[in-house]
Amino acid sequence: MVRKLAVVLALVLSVTLTGAASSARPGAVGIGDPYYPLDGNGGYDVKHYDLAIRYAPATDALAGVATIRARATQHLSAFNLDLDGLTIRSVTVDGRAARWSRAGTELTVTPRRPLHKGGAFVTKIAYDGVPKVIQDPDLGDGGAFTTSDGVMILGEPDVAQAWYPSNDHPIDKASFSIALTVPKGVEALSNGAPAGRFTRGGWTTWRWEQIEPMATYLAMAAIGQFDVKSYRRDGIQFVDGIDPALPKATYDIVARSFAREPEILRFLSGYFGQYPFRAAGGVVDAEGDWGYALENQGRPIYTPDDFPTVEDGSAIIVHELAHQWYGDSVALGRWADIWLNEGFATYAEWLWSEHEGLGTAQETFDALYATPATASLWKYEVADPGAANLFVGAVYNRGAMTLHALRKAVGDKAFFRILKSWAQMNRGGNVTTAKFIRHAERVSGKNLDALFTKWLYTASKPATP
Ligand code: TRP
Ligand code: ZN
Repeated sequence: MVRKLAVVLALVLSVTLTGAASSARPGAVGIGDPYYPLDGNGGYDVKHYDLAIRYAPATDALAGVATIRARATQHLSAFNLDLDGLTIRSVTVDGRAARWSRAGTELTVTPRRPLHKGGAFVTKIAYDGVPKVIQDPDLGDGGAFTTSDGVMILGEPDVAQAWYPSNDHPIDKASFSIALTVPKGVEALSNGAPAGRFTRGGWTTWRWEQIEPMATYLAMAAIGQFDVKSYRRDGIQFVDGIDPALPKATYDIVARSFAREPEILRFLSGYFGQYPFRAAGGVVDAEGDWGYALENQGRPIYTPDDFPTVEDGSAIIVHELAHQWYGDSVALGRWADIWLNEGFATYAEWLWSEHEGLGTAQETFDALYATPATASLWKYEVADPGAANLFVGAVYNRGAMTLHALRKAVGDKAFFRILKSWAQMNRGGNVTTAKFIRHAERVSGKNLDALFTKWLYTASKPATP
């Protein structure tokens, strides 16, 4: 009798306590990107990732603890994170063990009690294993590229899920604390500003703080032998890493080109407004063979092939540093709008080329416009190229041509006001092409529908430039 009463009481109590959460549902398995339906997840919003990762170059194995602070955006009975490979050792939510299961790249976490809409919660995941390269025959590979002395972790759009559990879509930005623990004598670079370093028991922990919100794919790790150069200039903390194993001629070109970073940031600030982050820099690994440079936030990664064999390699640096405004600070809301990243970064190269006396933006535009109508430059809708074509040349070049056509239509004054205020108004946020078109129309006071239809939404060569 007494026991029965206790059971009934407990039942009543648990029903009342979970009252609001009785409407709890699992969060969606994807955040809603038409190109990448499983990237990101629904039902919560990440505020901060704290990643503590130990990496052993001898075995290529990492062991990590990811502490993820988030806020529920619905009553949540369960939620997903994205993780590709690796082994999970434990999961807690708000300090209590949580059930979890995995299916492909989806990790489902079921907390002991449903999470209330609007409530903050902390998920802590311990995991380990050898991180993989995520192969993508269309776009190129991303993930953890092992080198003889360490690993380089970078990629786009899918890379975060190869090394930490995340809400892996640029629309859910967060700040990051990244601590990389490596054998003493190995360098470990990541995003943002250096936040101290200590050595204990033969292992050195390198701490990095990325305080401005960052998209998950922009988080990077560069572990191995690097000559690290740190300095402050113009209120920005620069940290560069150059692999000492580079052939001397390449090393010198990289070093000379990196030395121009403050000058390049000043140049770009003139057009785009204040540099959006407190840290900057770049990294080159001698064994980099993944085939692209990437605009990792505050600290892009390059391969030796990104630099010319003679003289100056500033063009690629201009491209990746321009992405700090367009791509990183002003990030995509969905991958179809990739031209908002690549078209803008390419246009920055055109401006730099003109500044360096290497051909005007108009000349670059004219040369491209002379391309025959059958060329692949004209084959895509630039603002919706398809998931397999995110990084085709047309997204870069026709994207930049779109901006030049806009410049011709509205005049230099309005055009540069459009670029600068776009970066300022959306600093730290996410955007879409529709939003850019509205912005350009508002600033210029012109109806630009025909122009953008012609340049962004027509898969053929425009009859007139
Ligand atoms: N976004 C990179 C740039 O700065 C290029 C890039 C990333 C890329 N991943 C890729 C290019 C995959 C081709 C394939 O331009
Ligand atoms: Zn780019």
